[in-house]
Amino acid sequence: KPEPAPGQTPHIYWHAGQVTAQARMGGVGRRAATVWLTGLSGAGKSTLACALEKMLVEAGRPAYVLDGDNLRHGLNRDLGFTPEDRQENIRRSAEVARLMNDAGLIVIAAFISPLRRDRELARGIIGADDFIETHISTPCGVCEERDPKGLYRKARAGLIPEFTGISAPYEAPEHPALTIDTGGMPLAHACELLFEHLAKRYI
Ligand code: PPS
Repeated sequence: KPEPAPGQTPHIYWHAGQVTAQARMGGVGRRAATVWLTGLSGAGKSTLACALEKMLVEAGRPAYVLDGDNLRHGLNRDLGFTPEDRQENIRRSAEVARLMNDAGLIVIAAFISPLRRDRELARGIIGADDFIETHISTPCGVCEERDPKGLYRKARAGLIPEFTGISAPYEAPEHPALTIDTGGMPLAHACELLFEHLAKRYI
């Protein structure tokens, strides 16, 4: 009888299937990946994620957006914005991304994911080879000016505690695969950059 892996819950065993991720994707040479978009609220993560998803699907490559705001309506509805809750938000979402990659989908994950240690956690869950960390580096001033949901105004008025960039930290990635400032680049161009990056290995 196989032993559970160290650190696993006792009496829980991994059951391997008969179909590999590659076979599921229709053959040799195909890989799935997770494009992990990190950046401030209002930086343009969701807009870019949805545009890239459309571009990939139109090119015949199944893709799916996992968006922080959206997942907080269901799977992560019990979580708030303390450091512990944000970490659990990232952990669960990374586990979902990993499953979706295994199922053959390119995942575009749009989460503020402000702390390096939480993004490293996601990288570990998804697998370093398939984790494409992308910094949406739009400066805080630009995000605050856009303020599409009026959250910065509320945060400045003290109505939203622990608001990233105002009263909670954002740690920029040190070695992202790509950096995109949506304040200085048209959406279509940003999309092309990501698409080309993916095309080398995943499309
Ligand atoms: S995190 O930090 O990765 O767990 O956040 P995420 O799951 O991406 O959710 C971010 C969206 O939640 C809204 N919101 C807040 N953001 C930051 N700080 C606080 N305190 C906060 N409260 C609510 C906000 O709409 C974020 O959406 P985006 O799309 O990033 O603007």
